[in-house]
Amino acid sequence: PRPILLTRHGESQDNVRGRIGGDAAISEAGELYSKKLANFVEKRLKSERAASIWTSTLQRTILTASPIVGFPKVQWRALDEINAGVCDGMTYEEIKKNRPEEYESRQKDKLRYRYPRGESYLDVIQRLEPVIIELERQRAPVVVISHQAVLRALYAYFADRPLKEVPHIEMPLHTIIEIQMGVTGVQEKRYKLMD
Ligand code: F6P
Repeated sequence: PRPILLTRHGESQDNVRGRIGGDAAISEAGELYSKKLANFVEKRLKSERAASIWTSTLQRTILTASPIVGFPKVQWRALDEINAGVCDGMTYEEIKKNRPEEYESRQKDKLRYRYPRGESYLDVIQRLEPVIIELERQRAPVVVISHQAVLRALYAYFADRPLKEVPHIEMPLHTIIEIQMGVTGVQEKRYKLMD
C-alpha cells in the first residue's frame, strides 16, 4: 500500500506574527523543520522511485520542500491556502476589531462563511476535487506540503470525517500525518518532528 504524507509548511514569518494569508517566507524554526522533513522523507521513501512532492504555489511550502532531493516536485494552485480576501494579512484580533460583523459570521458558521472577495471552506473543498482525483490515481507515495485549511479538507476526505467538523480539525505545525489506504480501510500514523 502506498502512503500519502500530509504536512503543513514549516512555521512562517506570518505564523510568528499571527497574520493570516500572505506569502511570507519561513522562520528559523520553519527552516529546521524543512531539514527534518527532508531527512524523514528520504528515509521513508528511499526505495520509492515514483514518489513525488506536491506543494502549493506559495513560497512557504516551496521553501519547506526545497531541502528534499531526489523526487520530482509539483506545484498546485489548488493547494494554496484559503483566500482570506479583504482580511488577508490581518491578525484575528484585527479582524475582530476592524470587521466585527465578519468575525461574528465566521464564528457562527465557519464552514460556509466566505471572506469578502475570498473563499469559504466549502469553496476550498470544491477546488480540491482535481487534487483528490489525482491523489487517488497515483500508485506511488505522495508528500503533500500545504496549509492549515486545505489540509483539514484533504484529511477529512481520507479519514472520512463529517463536513461540519472540517474547519475545526486540529492540524498542528511540524507534524506529518501518514495515511495508508488498504483493503481494510484507512490507517493513520503521526510523526511530530519538532515541539
Ligand atoms: O494562520 C495560518 C493559516 O494558514 C492562515 O493563512 C489561514 O487563514 C488560517 O490558517 C486558516 O485557519 P482558520 O480557518 O482556523 O482561520
